[in-house]
Amino acid sequence: MRIDIVTLLPELLESPLNHSIMQRAKERGLLNIHLHQLRDYAINKHGQVDDMQYGGGAGMVIMCEPLSKVIEKLKSEREYDEIIYLTPDGKTFQQKIANTLSLKNNLMMICGHYKGIDQRIRDLYITLEISIGDYVLSGGELAAAILVDSIGRLIPGVLNDETSALTDSHQDGLLAPPVYTRPAEFKGLNVPEVLLNGNFKLIDEWRQDQAIQRTEERRPDLME
Ligand code: ADE
Repeated sequence: MRIDIVTLLPELLESPLNHSIMQRAKERGLLNIHLHQLRDYAINKHGQVDDMQYGGGAGMVIMCEPLSKVIEKLKSEREYDEIIYLTPDGKTFQQKIANTLSLKNNLMMICGHYKGIDQRIRDLYITLEISIGDYVLSGGELAAAILVDSIGRLIPGVLNDETSALTDSHQDGLLAPPVYTRPAEFKGLNVPEVLLNGNFKLIDEWRQDQAIQRTEERRPDLME
């Protein structure tokens, strides 16, 4: 998979996308991420990419021309399955969306700043608008990093244990059950007996029960 990210702050994305599982995905050639500095497409030699909003009001708006230039350049080089704009008024990101996006070949992500981007760019080019939650970030970069991480780890071959993504919280609509490792007793707390007896049918049943119980307690909204 190839992901192109258009941003004014590529530095914000470099560290999260160059460690751990994302780094492994890159090294294995399964995920190629390209960062594009929007300022390189500025409208003048002062590096201007934003302007005041029509109608007045606080906050700058990222202009059409720089975004249009970079998006059209990238689109002329390959076909994109989705052009995603990260925005607090987008569709709330969920595991289901990560699953769908992990099957795509080429994604483009646009990170906004200030008041956001000119609506006409959204009308003309954006195919999917995503919010990572009901709160406002200073820009789309951290949201893009979250999307890339959650999508990247689902690409076949990225995780070492292929089954581990399947047992994540949310993957089957339930929260994950509790997990334990050695020692069997710690400060008077014991690992549940069922996990120690090697009966995998019983273990599966226990995990399923725990997942349901945990979801009912913590996220009753998911049970409906
Ligand atoms: N940009 C600013 N806030 C955001 C949010 N909650 N989700 C995605 N992009 C954003």
